Amino acid sequence: MKSLFEQNELAGIPLKNRLIRSATHEAMADEAGRPREQLARLYERLSRGGIGAIISGFLGVHRQSHGYPHMMLLDRDEHIPDYQALLEPTKKQGTPVIAQVAHLGGKFHASMVKSDVLAPSTKNYAPFGVKARAMTPGEIEETIDAFVQAIRRCREAGFDGVQVHAAHGYLLSEFLSPHCNRRTDSWGGDTERRFRIVGEIMRGARQEVGDYPLLLKISGHDWDKNGMTVPEAIKLARLFQEAGGDAVEVSSGGVNALDMSRTAKIPVEAILNLDPQYTKYHPGAKKILAVLLPLGVKNPRPIYNYNVEAAARIKEQLDIPVIVVGGLRKLDEMEQVITEGKADYVALCRPLIIEPALVENFLNGKQDRSKCIDCDYCLLGVLAGPLRCYMGKLPG
Ligand SMILES: Cc1cc2nc3c(=O)[nH]c(=O)nc-3n(C[C@H](O)[C@H](O)[C@H](O)COP(=O)(O)O)c2cc1C
Repeated sequence: MKSLFEQNELAGIPLKNRLIRSATHEAMADEAGRPREQLARLYERLSRGGIGAIISGFLGVHRQSHGYPHMMLLDRDEHIPDYQALLEPTKKQGTPVIAQVAHLGGKFHASMVKSDVLAPSTKNYAPFGVKARAMTPGEIEETIDAFVQAIRRCREAGFDGVQVHAAHGYLLSEFLSPHCNRRTDSWGGDTERRFRIVGEIMRGARQEVGDYPLLLKISGHDWDKNGMTVPEAIKLARLFQEAGGDAVEVSSGGVNALDMSRTAKIPVEAILNLDPQYTKYHPGAKKILAVLLPLGVKNPRPIYNYNVEAAARIKEQLDIPVIVVGGLRKLDEMEQVITEGKADYVALCRPLIIEPALVENFLNGKQDRSKCIDCDYCLLGVLAGPLRCYMGKLPG
């Protein structure tokens, strides 16, 4: 039987326990997408805090996928030394760092749009205020190459592995989901065709980086009409395994509901005061929006452990390890996930924003649950400044 605090290997990477920091966009990059020193300090704090491995915030693979303020980019070789510098302190401490590579597709923040927003099929992304157009086959090939080259750069920069982001309604997730991918060419249609873009990235990456650890993050389910379901996610995860993938992280959420990071209450105050789309609105308009916004956004339940059952069902059908993320807050419940074999790893995002040393505190017996209140202000906060915990309150 596995246990949460045992030493282990994930795709050959040594980990001191089975707790992983899930990818968290830190908004700590400069205008060109190079990580700032502040990010190295955050990774150092997380590393000292006892986490088994860190997955970085998303790193854009192409200039075209630079869709959030202060997002990292690894679209060119000149940036490699900046990432080597980022990893130096954590390397000394022996905590592995896995890079998450992404293309944001249609889920692009309106303030960042400089050219066409691309998606598998034409779509209005109302909450983001953008309209995406369908990619041409040439643009799909260019994007595959951008992923492959970014993965090569990650290895050269010293990341211990790469996670390809195919969850939460971003570009690859849009290709996987029948809700967003309505293409009738060889990049859309049945499961195999919708998976093709990820399969091609894997094929190209294996040629470039050999047996370097390659992970995938997928949504096990979402709330989109004709969207992702667990049986479909099982098929996709199996295709990833056949393509030589090393591990799958199971999350949830597509392009519509607030499902990725579930919350007790839609964070209306944070949306209206931290998201640059709304900050300029007249106070009267904000009052009306404060009433309308919660009516227009689906806010799924339960808010804790919401991907554990999906992860367990996907794990049953796979030989490679499964990581679960989403609302895990109590130590005994994390232990149970591992001892009952529902997943091989537990990943945490928001709990490590409020307490980077949470794992150390679990080990010392100082606490047995996260202090995170799931307010989701952090999620809006990264549109206004670097990642931080707000504890449900705007700064005075
Ligand atoms: C501020 C913030 C930034 C996030 N950035 C990313 C990201 O860059 N990539 C990603 O895959 N997920 C991202 N997520 C989602 C988390 O990785 C995670 O899947 C989700 O928050 C559920 O886990 P939790 O309940 O432990 O927070 C982000 C979530 C938050 C709150």
